[in-house]
Amino acid sequence: MSSNTKSDPTIFVIFGGTGDLTSRKIGPALYNLFLDGWMPSQFSIIGTGRTQYSDEQFRENLYNDLSQFSRSGVPDKEKWAAFAQNVYYQVSDVKNAETYKEFGKRIEKHSADWKAKPNVIYYLAVSPNLFPIIASNLAKAKLADDKNRTRIVIEKPFGHDLDTAKELNQLLSSIFDECQIYRIDHYLGKETVQNIMAFRFANSIMEPLWNRNFIEHVQISVSEQLGVEERGDYYDGSGALRDMIQNHLLQLLCHIAMEPPVSFNADEVRDRKVDVLKAMRKFGPDDVRMSAVRGQYGSGWMKGKEVPAYRDEPKVDPESNTETFAAIKFFIDNWRWQGVPFYLRTGKRLHQSSSVITIQFKDVPHLIFPTEAAESWQQNRLIISIQPEMSIRLQVQAKRPGIDMILNAVDMVFDYKGTYTQQAPEAYETLILDTMLGDQTLFMRGDQVEAAWELVMPILSTWQNKKSLNFPNYSADSWGPESAEALIARDGFNWFTLPVQGKK
Ligand code: BG6
Repeated sequence: MSSNTKSDPTIFVIFGGTGDLTSRKIGPALYNLFLDGWMPSQFSIIGTGRTQYSDEQFRENLYNDLSQFSRSGVPDKEKWAAFAQNVYYQVSDVKNAETYKEFGKRIEKHSADWKAKPNVIYYLAVSPNLFPIIASNLAKAKLADDKNRTRIVIEKPFGHDLDTAKELNQLLSSIFDECQIYRIDHYLGKETVQNIMAFRFANSIMEPLWNRNFIEHVQISVSEQLGVEERGDYYDGSGALRDMIQNHLLQLLCHIAMEPPVSFNADEVRDRKVDVLKAMRKFGPDDVRMSAVRGQYGSGWMKGKEVPAYRDEPKVDPESNTETFAAIKFFIDNWRWQGVPFYLRTGKRLHQSSSVITIQFKDVPHLIFPTEAAESWQQNRLIISIQPEMSIRLQVQAKRPGIDMILNAVDMVFDYKGTYTQQAPEAYETLILDTMLGDQTLFMRGDQVEAAWELVMPILSTWQNKKSLNFPNYSADSWGPESAEALIARDGFNWFTLPVQGKK
């Protein structure tokens, strides 16, 4: 997130080097950082996996991945050659001590060649059951001893529930100091998410309004058109609550609800987020029934194509009880937010792919206009659009031009496209650069992860223990089950959706 300095010489070891995440995100991010001049002058990337590849084969695969997935498109031959000479592959068996000896030798060789002690980043882009094995073996091989120069990056899911998250935290902290552990939540690296802090804390006009006196309710909606695709084996053991709410949506909520940190120091910022999670009201069994809605998609049509029901997706249990949609109403018990509902909603196979935060302000205390003037009355709203549109809109009432006094809602818009010409970096670029620079502001601290798990556990166990009798309960290309509409309608509100760009 920071800085305009480069990191020290760095060795970047990717466990899961042949996996999907490396192809789509990590590889392109490293290459784009190189193109933009952020990589240190001495670096080496070592992909590792069980597949037998030579360095050349691994580079070739990476080249093809970049051509397909990188925001910078097909690599320029010369730039690619300059980058690729730093890329290596090591066949590995993460359970075997020999693998780690090999890493040790490579690290020593680079240190000798570079005449410098490098930072070493171990990036665990592997299945979570391998996290403890790899971390322990790194320790046994004494590859984690240098607390200043060794870092470990852990992808989500961080634990399957509160207990497993605690276990993993305990294991990691027996090997690494907290300042060496980088738990990824890629939403925190998104440009528009980082901008929430800028918007709130670099402007003086928002803070006086940012509380229960002026804000009526908040909505955080992350909807996806995609189904589970090829990830049925992971997703069926996870579901929307674990996959999205426990991490991404609660982090968005923290950005909206946190108190101003004293400084931009990583722990200061994370302390303020933990404060929010701790102040959130915990659910009892009745609250789950009243304030949490789950859904699972049935078959349907999307963009003119027939799509299968969740239970018919590959590697999904045909009687699965896993939710692909969740909508939850939370409260935050503190001075700023007492009584203000926060509605969170996320789901797959929904009508639109969009992540939008809507802050609805309270109504005017007294309406001076005749009813006819205010037929399309709309309370003020602040709409922070995270993706695909990247914008902040303030909806205000205006007088429509004409002899009559007729009011309608208009948008005051800050939109990235119209304001900036440069392309925003991908979340993974920001986050990977931060691991190299040693900046943890955008990473999840251990207590933050546990606080988020604590919050969702009552919902998780209620849903797990009680099979849903009406799954599937929403069809593809809808906005989820009707009960999600009812959840918010009971309080007199409705879900806000941003019009698709280009459509009026
Ligand atoms: C991942 C989830 O963390 O986030 C996926 O595991 C989800 O299920 C994805 O599709 C959404 O991320 P983005 O950046 O596409 O909004």
